[in-house]
Amino acid sequence: MSIRIGVIGTGGIGGDHIRRIRNSLSGAVVTAVSDPDTERASASIDGVQGACVVGDGLDLINRSDVDAVLIASPGATHADFLTACLRIRKPVFCEKPLATNVADAWRVF
Ligand SMILES: NC(=O)c1ccc[n+]([C@@H]2O[C@H](COP(=O)([O-])OP(=O)(O)OC[C@H]3O[C@@H](n4cnc5c(N)ncnc54)[C@H](O)[C@@H]3O)[C@@H](O)[C@H]2O)c1
Repeated sequence: MSIRIGVIGTGGIGGDHIRRIRNSLSGAVVTAVSDPDTERASASIDGVQGACVVGDGLDLINRSDVDAVLIASPGATHADFLTACLRIRKPVFCEKPLATNVADAWRVF
């Protein structure tokens, strides 16, 4: 069974990750993406069977069809998304930076 990945942020690097998961990885599929630019989000999963656009990253994290989360939204959003994943012990990969200020970095730590 494949690991079902939810991707938050479908811009430059998020789009790269989605293409990599789709074209180069075995054992993983993208099942959900979230981005305020919903057109970009939809385009990023064009042709990805069974994948959907979710309105909010926090909703994506809590979905039962998302086993692991990939965060590729702007840095200032990382701490909230990371802490949400850690709270429910959902595996997460986050692009750098961890946070954009010391208080947020400690919140994640
Ligand atoms: N581009 C790179 O090579 C690279 C390399 C390493 C790390 N990063 C990091 O990855 C992150 C994204 O960089 P990028 O270059 O892809 O930027 P980008 O501007 O191309 O893409 C960011 C995307 O996130 C979306 N977004 C904004 N707020 C959001 C939210 N609340 N929820 C979900 N999506 C949201 C934007 O609409 C946009 O589509 C940054 O933290 C950056 O520092 C980028």
